[in-house]
Amino acid sequence: MEFKPAVDVVGIGISMNQLERNTFLQEKILGDIQDYPLPRQAFDVVACWWVLEHLARPKDALINLFGSVKQEGLLVLAFANLLSSKGIVTKFTPFWFHMLFYRVMKFKSRPFPRYLRLAIPPGRVVRLAQSNGFPVVLFRLVEGTMTKRALTRSWLIGGTFSGVDFALQAISFGRLSSLSLDSCVMVLRRG
Ligand SMILES: C[S@@+](CC[C@H](N)C(=O)[O-])C[C@H]1O[C@@H](n2cnc3c(N)ncnc32)[C@H](O)[C@@H]1O
Repeated sequence: MEFKPAVDVVGIGISMNQLERNTFLQEKILGDIQDYPLPRQAFDVVACWWVLEHLARPKDALINLFGSVKQEGLLVLAFANLLSSKGIVTKFTPFWFHMLFYRVMKFKSRPFPRYLRLAIPPGRVVRLAQSNGFPVVLFRLVEGTMTKRALTRSWLIGGTFSGVDFALQAISFGRLSSLSLDSCVMVLRRG
């Protein structure tokens, strides 16, 4: 006998290979979240996990996602923090440099091309969400494993980084968050 799963899970992506890897999905949509006509106010929870930084038009994607969430529903976002050392270096270096970095650091995965558009520093995403009726219920900046590994590789790199980071935070009277916080996680609720 087979029981229906407790939740219906729908996934969307531009790569069928990537969609096939996700065994939780009951429905797979091959499409671009910047344009695909997602059903309006259809989902209780929408998660967009490490995708926004790869988009040429992240604002269009966010507006599309906002529209697909039910009243009182949640939108969960994880994305790269442009206002971090990793974010700045990634944005202003070519893709071959990212490939080389992954190889030198012996990361098993391969980097995806990134745009890291100016529309997605976390503060901007918060303001866009609020102006579309999505107050923030959780906001965290965290240090990712890649930054952690890079900073602990040598005491000289780690020490210099900490010194510059401390100075920037002091000069900005604490308004700047640490440059090591390269990842942003946010939960928004349609109010
Ligand atoms: C870094 S991977 C993250 C995958 C997954 N969310 C995870 O956390 O393991 C980025 C994903 O974004 C998808 N992607 C890139 N551009 C997209 C777009 N315009 N619309 C939908 N998906 C896109 C890629 O196919 C890829 O699966």
